[in-house]
Amino acid sequence: MIILAIETSCDETAVAILDAQGDHITPLANIVSSQISLHAQYGGVVPALAAREHAANIQHVLETALSEARIRDARASIDLIAVTRGPGLGPALLVGIMFARTLAWAWNKPLVGVDHMDGHVHSNWLEREAPIAFPALNLIVSGGHTDLVLMTDHSSYRIIGETRDDAIGEAFDKVARLLDLGYPGGPRISALALDGNPQAFSLPRPMLDADNFDFSYSGLKTAVLYLVRDLTKDGAPLAGKQKSDIAASFQEAAIDVLVQKTRRAARLHGVASILLSGGVSANKLLRARVEALGDELGIPAYIPLMKYTTDNAAMVGTAGYFMHLANPGAKHPWQEVTMDANMRLC
Ligand code: KG4
Ligand code: ZN
Repeated sequence: MIILAIETSCDETAVAILDAQGDHITPLANIVSSQISLHAQYGGVVPALAAREHAANIQHVLETALSEARIRDARASIDLIAVTRGPGLGPALLVGIMFARTLAWAWNKPLVGVDHMDGHVHSNWLEREAPIAFPALNLIVSGGHTDLVLMTDHSSYRIIGETRDDAIGEAFDKVARLLDLGYPGGPRISALALDGNPQAFSLPRPMLDADNFDFSYSGLKTAVLYLVRDLTKDGAPLAGKQKSDIAASFQEAAIDVLVQKTRRAARLHGVASILLSGGVSANKLLRARVEALGDELGIPAYIPLMKYTTDNAAMVGTAGYFMHLANPGAKHPWQEVTMDANMRLC
């Protein structure tokens, strides 16, 4: 079947078209129009500006996707529409939802509302040859989430651990601000960390020894704040080498906790596979550590292709497709898709 998917939860206006057969999902188009340069001047995403840009661009992004997928008659070709219903920035989400509802109404198509995090999880099914074995342990790491989630099938999730304060992506972004690296922080910290020594500064590993699978990243961020204050107390700015050492030490501490907790959870629950997802899954060190963890435990560790790590609509269409497969007789009327009231940050 052919699926049209729309994602506008944060600062990417994204439309994808997928061809899905059984467990095989082939993207025919995956267009992401990023607003990063607009928000960078404010040091983070401004919800009203994000909504305005989505509204200005979404029609063009749709037309680009249809043309790349070589679809001339959308009404005749598309079987299902999927849209992110939350969590995310309310004004931004609404643009995508209203656009999708309008298309579904005009073309008389079924419409499914997809949870953004369900979308991230399903980025692992894109362009994958072999099926993924359940039960799977998901490590979901993004700007708003740091979750360990057990998954027994496409729609059965149980959260066994989550962050008690800042999400890991948020911590990357805040530490980048402390180091004057700009927004978004994750990619900049990881690039800088390449030249740094991860052992240069000893930073805390919050909740590592706690008898649960929860995370906490605000203490780590505060430790970096105090370190920067200490190093700059005589008024001189941080040297380049100091910055890269801080970036590398922070990245090491942040990832160390993730991997150790994932190892313990995988052993305790005897899972058949580990799945990494969310924007922070673009981090090369984390990707390598999760792959090594799979080898160590003797189970497959799946990592999304780089192009599906940060927000995109292909992942949303994939989650929507599996929602439809779970209940193929359902009509999925457009009137039933509304914004998720859970307004956590994207
Ligand atoms: O999933 P995503 O695109 O949006 C949300 O749903 O939150 O994730 C964005 C987050 C940001 O915090 C960004 O700094 C982080 O992912 N990120 C990274 C990297 N690339 C993006 N964090 C660490 N290393 C990276 N290479
Ligand atoms: Zn996301």
